[in-house]
Amino acid sequence: MYEPYITDFTMNIHNKILNNYLDKIKDISDYVYAVNNIDEYPLNKRGNILFNLGGVLNHQLFFSILGQGEMSEQFKNKIIEDFGSVSNFKEEFIKNANYVVGSGYTFLVLNKDNKLEIINTSNEDTPYSYGLKPIMNLDLWEHAYFLDYQNNKTDYINNFFSIVDFNKVSKIYEEIQKNI
Ligand SMILES: [Fe+2]
Repeated sequence: MYEPYITDFTMNIHNKILNNYLDKIKDISDYVYAVNNIDEYPLNKRGNILFNLGGVLNHQLFFSILGQGEMSEQFKNKIIEDFGSVSNFKEEFIKNANYVVGSGYTFLVLNKDNKLEIINTSNEDTPYSYGLKPIMNLDLWEHAYFLDYQNNKTDYINNFFSIVDFNKVSKIYEEIQKNI
């Protein structure tokens, strides 16, 4: 679907991993609520539940923003307001992605001050745990690039913006703004 940047084989691996996460949180229906109210679960299970919740939320977001599409005016204006320009935003996103070591993600998030920010997270941490609203992300686990790019993670990162559907990203941003 996103060849040659991400092969179907790799997308299939992501899907298998997602299904495994989903299987472990079958009893939970509202994932974001569960992340925000993790103290409702027994202390010794929280770490595991959070890991699987994050795994689902992070993969679902990643799958949802892949494709082709243009930014809305509203979203583009916000990007320019917070990053100076669209190209600055892309540059900063790529720079941050290159800082990720081990397993993790780079995210565009909306913070509590209603500003866009680029952050890196480890493993399956979700920005919701830090009071941040995720808008788009790049999966930087080894399974996300190793089969297609081997050790050339930088090429995978540099190709990312060729397969981002910014129309979908804009909709996610606009939906968050509507609900603030
Ligand atoms: Fe993945």
